[in-house]
Amino acid sequence: MAERDGKDRSGRLIEQVTGSELAGLDGAGEALWLDVIAKMDEVYSDLLRYETDLEAKNAELEEAQAFISSVIASVSDILVVVDADGTILQVNPAFVRLTGISAADLVGAKLATRLAPADRAAATDLAGGSGEFSDREVRFLTAEAVSDLMAVACSPRLDHAGRHAGAVLTGRPIGELRRAYEALHRAHQELQQAQRKLIEQEKMASLGRLVAGVAHELNNPISFVYGNIHTLDRYRGRLTGFFEALAAGGDPNELRRTWRIDPLMEDLGPLLEGSLEGAVRVSDIVRNLRRLSFSKPGDRMAVDLDKVARNAANWAARAKGGGTRIDFDGCDGALVDGHEGQLHQVLVNLIENAFDAVAGERDPAVAVTVEAADGMVEVRVQDNGPGVAPAVADKIFEPFFTTKAVGEGTGLGLWISYSIAREHGGEIALRPVPHGACFVLRLPQRGPEP
Ligand SMILES: Nc1ncnc2c1ncn2[C@@H]1O[C@H](COP(=O)(O)OP(=O)(O)OP(=O)(O)O)[C@@H](O)[C@H]1O
Ligand SMILES: [Mg+2]
Repeated sequence: MAERDGKDRSGRLIEQVTGSELAGLDGAGEALWLDVIAKMDEVYSDLLRYETDLEAKNAELEEAQAFISSVIASVSDILVVVDADGTILQVNPAFVRLTGISAADLVGAKLATRLAPADRAAATDLAGGSGEFSDREVRFLTAEAVSDLMAVACSPRLDHAGRHAGAVLTGRPIGELRRAYEALHRAHQELQQAQRKLIEQEKMASLGRLVAGVAHELNNPISFVYGNIHTLDRYRGRLTGFFEALAAGGDPNELRRTWRIDPLMEDLGPLLEGSLEGAVRVSDIVRNLRRLSFSKPGDRMAVDLDKVARNAANWAARAKGGGTRIDFDGCDGALVDGHEGQLHQVLVNLIENAFDAVAGERDPAVAVTVEAADGMVEVRVQDNGPGVAPAVADKIFEPFFTTKAVGEGTGLGLWISYSIAREHGGEIALRPVPHGACFVLRLPQRGPEP
């Protein structure tokens, strides 16, 4: 229509110019006019093109605006845009729903007037006055009273020149966050409880294994002591008979034979020795078990593992050292939190085990090294003995596992040591080495004094 109008108009113009006024013009003037008219035509068609371009751009802009509006409308968090003076420029439907006030009434109002009275002091910060991102917990005025407590994040807004132009506020009810936090907290507590239960179960299982082991280990010596006592009781009967017959005037040689006194006297020695050995074994087991004192966390103190390891090495060397060379390589700052006595016991056991292991070697040597690094203190006890056979490596920490002869080891040493290390928040491990065995006690280093 516009095009046809244009053509009509320009046609009429040509007609007018050619029809009346051009009649009096000469040839040059006519050409000039025609030129002007052609230019005008050109400008006009350019204008038309710009108009259609503009219309297309407009349509695109409207589409983009509709898209942004629909996104803002479907955001469930509240969204409020304010200018640098704290005047509300835009709100989203979530904010309208929260306050129960129409967008038309909210836009143009000062943010401070829309906050609950107690929170009005926050208005300047919320309008981005500080120029920094900030978080606030505020309540908004609603049509009836005030909203739930909202966690509002404020992002400052800058204009095209980078100047402070206000802020964008987004937020959601704290209740929701709190519920999520509480659910997380509950899950965390449940997890901790499950973990405690597991540790408890593990402790019970290990106690069960210990008790079964103790029962088994004690049963052996007790049963042969018991058997021996029965035999001794029978022998007592025979001796009583023999002495009574002797007192009645019988022939001593005859009576000795009748009452089988000679084999009885021969048997008496081994019987008593066996019983004594059984009793010693029982007392060894009990002594080892008594060492196993479970500590209260309260009685811990600073322990210098370097000093303890040195003492333990001297101690063990006195008991089992023999001709074994012992090298000690200590260090400063090997402080841990714990019970000196228990840690001493752990190290004595590790070093005694090493001495036992090298007993058959031609050039027996044991090396004790103390190191403190990365918040841990490590004591390594290495020997040049036969090492721990792979087949038993996972059994050596079990109670009563021993490869030593009866009377030489109860098999409780490593088990007790391991329990003590665990109670101190550390561990004992067998470290692979090319020759011999290397046991490592690792404990957390004591932190600096507060
Ligand atoms: N340094 C070592 N080299 C080789 N084997 C070792 C070494 N230390 C421990 N073992 C093995 O681990 C087993 C268990 O050691 P543990 O200290 O628990 O008991 P034990 O020394 O046999 O007896 P106890 O310490 O109760 O007197 C030992 O019998 C031995 O077989
Ligand atoms: Mg031992």
